[in-house]
Amino acid sequence: MSPALTIRPYSEGALSQAAAKLRAGELVAFPTETVYGLGADATNADAVAGIYAAKQRPSFNPLISHFPDRDAAAKHAVFDARADKLAGAFWPGALTLVLPRQKDSNVCELVTAGLPSIAVRVPAHPMARELLRAVGRPIAAPSANRSGRISPTTAGHVAHSLGDAISMILDGGPCGVGLESTVIDLTTDRVVMLRPGGITMEQVAEVLGCEVIMAETDDTAPKSPGMLTSHYAPGLPVRLDAKTADSAKYGNEILLAFGDCNTRGFDAVLWLSRTGDDREAAANLFAKLHEADQKRFDGIAIAPIPDSGLGLAINDRMKRAAAPRAPHPSP
Ligand code: TXA
Ligand code: MG
Repeated sequence: MSPALTIRPYSEGALSQAAAKLRAGELVAFPTETVYGLGADATNADAVAGIYAAKQRPSFNPLISHFPDRDAAAKHAVFDARADKLAGAFWPGALTLVLPRQKDSNVCELVTAGLPSIAVRVPAHPMARELLRAVGRPIAAPSANRSGRISPTTAGHVAHSLGDAISMILDGGPCGVGLESTVIDLTTDRVVMLRPGGITMEQVAEVLGCEVIMAETDDTAPKSPGMLTSHYAPGLPVRLDAKTADSAKYGNEILLAFGDCNTRGFDAVLWLSRTGDDREAAANLFAKLHEADQKRFDGIAIAPIPDSGLGLAINDRMKRAAAPRAPHPSP
């Protein structure tokens, strides 16, 4: 499970090798002007699940999709006038826009965490742009470090943190900005900064000529009412660790099944993974949650999933899906 690691500086051959790996569903770390990204084909759910496995991330946050230019991004995200102004002013560069997702976008739901929005960015680093152009697909890329470690700004940092989990790093030297991109949410009438970064609130406000609101940064605190919910929750109640069906108690449930779980007595069954493979289950997670969320059922039952490997992040996500919902704030 420790593939030989290749670290290659800029060359045409290195770029085309990296592009081929990404198209084949492998992970490649590459430089951007902010930090090194751990890239995967954003349209390949199995490849994206690999990002979580490599980073050992305990939760599924939505990821940024990277593009070579604004028009490539606009195939997957709906740009309004504000988005075009910001893209015009700061792209390529350290700005990420959260926009409504295009209906026909083939970016997988593990990237958008099942949300109707998508985060898009056009990085400025020449190697990143050339790579993105060569791949010709959106690339999901969080920072290329193990979860909880500092963000990598050299190829050496990446090798140190993820060297045993990935097969290739493109070495573009140290990152100029050294701080992740600023994330701006434009999915409502307001302009909300979700993550401070390379581009400041004042710079954004000046281009748009309006106020920029700072989202609450403490991810563990509940978001204030009306604040953008960044977590997809199904409409049906969700029951965790469902070992047996009990229609007298829970009505007609659809089971999200895993491994050798008990499927008897459920109204319908959707498999996260028949073989009990956590990576396959992660890749399927959001698509199956959406598929299960139908009015003809009374609830969604989740089979027990061990808390190991990607099971940790899957269970974290399911716990959020099962948590009591705050009532929608009145308009
Ligand atoms: O500088 C960067 O942005 C680096 C380099 C590699 O490009 N990338 C990076 O990606 O930091 P990532 O995927 O770790 O950034 C995720 C951020 C989180 O703050 C997440 O909440 C937000 O983007 N995000 C992504 N999709 C979102 C969505 N649909 N709605 C709200 N927030 C979203
Ligand atoms: Mg990070």
